[in-house]
Amino acid sequence: MSSHTVSTRPFSEADIDAIRDDTPGVRESAYLMSAGSALMTTSVYTAIRAHLDLEMKIGGYAAADSRAEALDGVYDSVARLVGVDADEVALTENATVAWQLIFNSLRFRPGDRILTGEAEYGANFVSYLQVAQRYGAVVEVVPSDEFGQMDTNALEQMIDERVRLISITWVPTNGGLVNPAAEVGRIARRHGIFYLLDACQAVGQMPVDMEELGCDALSATGRKFLRGPRGTGFLCVRREALLDLEPPMIDHFAAPWTSLDSYTLRRDARRFETWENAYALRAGLGASIDYALELGLERIQERCYSLADRMRDGLDSIPGVSVHDLGVERCAIVSFTVDGQPAERVVTHAQSLGVTIGTSGPNSTLIDADRRRLPTLNRAAPHYFNTEEEVDLFVDVVQQARSVR
Ligand SMILES: Cc1ncc(COP(=O)(O)O)c(C=O)c1O
Repeated sequence: MSSHTVSTRPFSEADIDAIRDDTPGVRESAYLMSAGSALMTTSVYTAIRAHLDLEMKIGGYAAADSRAEALDGVYDSVARLVGVDADEVALTENATVAWQLIFNSLRFRPGDRILTGEAEYGANFVSYLQVAQRYGAVVEVVPSDEFGQMDTNALEQMIDERVRLISITWVPTNGGLVNPAAEVGRIARRHGIFYLLDACQAVGQMPVDMEELGCDALSATGRKFLRGPRGTGFLCVRREALLDLEPPMIDHFAAPWTSLDSYTLRRDARRFETWENAYALRAGLGASIDYALELGLERIQERCYSLADRMRDGLDSIPGVSVHDLGVERCAIVSFTVDGQPAERVVTHAQSLGVTIGTSGPNSTLIDADRRRLPTLNRAAPHYFNTEEEVDLFVDVVQQARSVR
């Protein structure tokens, strides 16, 4: 871990201009889809291209060798981003793989309880169902409180000696809710229960500190608020938990073949990796993390949240438009519906006027969608590189979307 001094003052107009100069995509549209796949910076693109150029010229093995130090630095970047040491980091091809690797390292026995939340992500939930079917574990959903976030009092009351895992999504895929992840961590630690945190939509838009969160493992992706390339993600596992976890699949990188009939698992988090990797994309992930760290996550959070609040205020003032975000703390994901308009039509309409937004279907967060009877929602996610003018344009566009046929 290194201490890194970054500015905490709010971004000035000049800062935003400079950031937008680094972001060619802002010239194409008012891009409000950073929860899907955010716009890369020029530095990210250049890092990827430089590595590919090298692979083309001297071959993939020599390229990786000649950039070994910089590529190793990507682990340090992730470590700084989430407040762990580099040997607690594994790089993966996405957040789902990161999450699956750690989840499937846990051994479940009949009657073991898995506690999760109402806003749990679809990929995670079907995995709970799979281990429930395979091993007789029991999946239980902790209710939400009156604000729609996980009710930590209810969680505390549900704990007994059969709880094997607490596993939640910090920022769900379908809206602005920020679950009380650190409070959940305090409960998990108090009871000595393994705590897995899906931080996929939190990294890059807010400070993340695994120690403060109290989680044993955390998974995330590169392409969302971190502004990295697609096909990148990472897994962080606390050292104390690491050595007890046998990955569900291994190769001779994760577990060197040390004698004819034995292997020895690596002692660091790279026991969750395999030998072959997309080094160009890793270089891009590293560049995206360094860019965010350089700007400062507190400032990023402040600007992201304030643009999202401006969006919600704008949408709240339009009759026939409903904002669906839950929670005490609401982040830079804004979910909404326009009366009588399918979400896809709103997306097409917005795109025709130069505004890029997305949708989120019920199947990604089925418990929440079912409980609140949510249809496919529109999802708009600003980032610090967006401007107030873009947000206002977005609000105008949604207003007009009410009468599109
Ligand atoms: C909350 C959450 N977790 C995990 C994922 C999966 O991330 P990836 O597509 O990188 O595997 C997503 C993707 O939308 C998500 O929203």
